[in-house]
Amino acid sequence: MNWVVEKDYEALSRCAAALFLEAVHRMPGIVLGLPTGRTPVSMYARVVSECSRDTRCFRDATTFNLDEYVSIPRNHPGSYFTYMKKHLIDHVDLDPSHAHVPDGTAATVLGQHPALSFEEALERECRRYEEEIRVAGGLDLCFLGLGQNGHIGFNEPGTPFGARTRVVRLSESTRVANASLFADGHVPERAITMGIGTIVEARRLVLLASGPAKRDALARLTSSEPDPSFPASALWLHEDVMVIADRDAAGQLDLSPRK
Ligand code: GLP
Repeated sequence: MNWVVEKDYEALSRCAAALFLEAVHRMPGIVLGLPTGRTPVSMYARVVSECSRDTRCFRDATTFNLDEYVSIPRNHPGSYFTYMKKHLIDHVDLDPSHAHVPDGTAATVLGQHPALSFEEALERECRRYEEEIRVAGGLDLCFLGLGQNGHIGFNEPGTPFGARTRVVRLSESTRVANASLFADGHVPERAITMGIGTIVEARRLVLLASGPAKRDALARLTSSEPDPSFPASALWLHEDVMVIADRDAAGQLDLSPRK
């Protein structure tokens, strides 16, 4: 695992955006795994500002988002589909049909499978998403955020490392942490997430961690062995992982390489 500690959030975002753009330019047909949340917002803004100058950035690229809430409309401000349109898709030359976000809305999943129950249709959507990633050739590069409890995507503590894309129940702490975009306070209870097994099959992983709220999770990541009670520790099983943290998140961590 390689570690980069930047002095603040903007420096972290500059570093992540440079890595993102370098990968997209080096491999035009890249398949990206993409996160949501507060942390990658400035990374996306920097990518967008570079790519609006070079309109061919994403022409042959494909993206797969890590996760999406179940049962909220895709145009809801808290939906990750809306997030991706706002922060990336609407501003670059990415073909919208190559920008994949799991779909947890009854209208679509049931519309496609009218003979199924909603639960069966959701399961079908998870299998379809996993299959789309496989058909695309797998993820070349996957960016990740870090939950305060160590979750990656929406894989909460206790998730087996082999888990595939599926419907999950969110922990109370995750719902509280993500409440700001749900003005009515009704944060969805479930989500569709790429599994840890799906994520660690990406050829390259980049984890972003910013701010003091991530300090404990990052400290645990540096000190833990792979352990399903702390999902991000699955990254120790991968050979090409970069963690980009800012000083607020890294604190006084000892980042000397592991023996
Ligand atoms: C959410 C998302 C994760 C994200 C995490 C951290 O739960 N499902 O994919 O990485 O939160 O978000 P933030 O960057 O806002 O702290």
